Amino acid sequence: MTTVDQRLASRAKERSPSPIRELMPYLSIPGMISLGGGYPNPETFVFRKLGISFKSGRTQQISGADAIAASQYGPTSAHRELGPTLLQWHKHKDGVTLSEQELLVLNGSQEGLFIMAYLFLEQDDCVVVSDPVYPGASGAVSAFCRNFIAAPLDAHGMDTARLEKRLRELQARGDKLPKFVYTVPSGHNPGGVTMSLERRKHLLTLAELHDFLILEDDPYQLVQLEDEETLPTLQALEGEPRRVIRLDSFSKIFAPGLRLGYATAHADIIRQFVLFKQYANLHTSMLVQAMLHSYLKEHGFDEFRAEIKANCLLYRNNRDAMVEAARAYLPPEVTFNIPGHGMFIWFILPSGFDAERMIRQDSEALKVLLVPGAAFAIDTDLKNCMRASFSMVEDETIREGMRRFAQMISREGERIEGERLEGEKS
Ligand SMILES: Cc1ncc(COP(=O)(O)O)c(C=O)c1O
Repeated sequence: MTTVDQRLASRAKERSPSPIRELMPYLSIPGMISLGGGYPNPETFVFRKLGISFKSGRTQQISGADAIAASQYGPTSAHRELGPTLLQWHKHKDGVTLSEQELLVLNGSQEGLFIMAYLFLEQDDCVVVSDPVYPGASGAVSAFCRNFIAAPLDAHGMDTARLEKRLRELQARGDKLPKFVYTVPSGHNPGGVTMSLERRKHLLTLAELHDFLILEDDPYQLVQLEDEETLPTLQALEGEPRRVIRLDSFSKIFAPGLRLGYATAHADIIRQFVLFKQYANLHTSMLVQAMLHSYLKEHGFDEFRAEIKANCLLYRNNRDAMVEAARAYLPPEVTFNIPGHGMFIWFILPSGFDAERMIRQDSEALKVLLVPGAAFAIDTDLKNCMRASFSMVEDETIREGMRRFAQMISREGERIEGERLEGEKS
């Protein structure tokens, strides 16, 4: 297997760690008098005590040494108390036991997408993404390389059989194989689908066979809309971290504005993530990490899971309303998936329909907005596709939104028919 060093892009090779950040472990040696570092004196900090009221009705205070730690510079990889808590959380949630060196707290999983692209991609490299793809990922990749291999999505997630065929073709031609495969295994954005167990295993086999990494971006893992057991993550199926770099996010289960997520992977890869962060932003906000830690300490994992589950009922209710209204109002030629995770439904309209034109011409008048498929396109133009989200509006409003979407579809149908008749005349 190619080593991490061999995989790195030249911009990420042979970087030396921040000489000051690397001295941080010395600070916890008892009796150490530190004349190093450029830490501001805590006497100068504005916070003495931070009070937090949780939705559960309970409160917590961050005060004394904790308030200072939340205000001060901290370790790059994680807040001292949150780091071990996240390792326990990861084991509780995914059944995967990792070490401190295999985890790094991020400013949301979006930061992890950018770091992966920064670390591993040269301009002539290529990356596998699903088609449609989350534009935050293709955008991060595009900053470094624009060679995408599109793997189609169906109701069972990324079509790994088609991917296998594509990889064999590349190999036969002697072309470069992908550096990594980017996948959103649960509640895909925008596809709404969840990758089946067989395909998860197949993707891991392909990674071994063709020696690539897998970027498992899983922010909707716990946004579960059915009661069934969740599938094992790609990382859990791998057994020990080798090829899978996993991104977890607290955006959809805690609070997105806090910008909190974490990466887990082989220690050599996390080390490279740490080096990136040392020079990009030093570390994720200690205050924000302290707030998450305070919540987890007060509520425990089981209560957190129960809270997430209760919130998922709201999403499930909204999904059901959207599915029901789509069945009632949309013409039968419009196809869509029923998501088991996440917040999105991907609508495929008859070919010839132009989603961008529909939004441009009818959205304002009909007062309904969806995202045209082109925003997520990689290979094909996805001109006749639309993404609808059921996360923000109430079920009644969703029904009305679907009714208006149906009107939009019928107007586009009339336009297409008009164009056809026009074409016949001329
Ligand atoms: C698939 C996917 N990945 C990553 C992100 C970014 O998440 P975060 O808020 O953790 O940066 C999103 C946000 O919508 C997403 O849908």
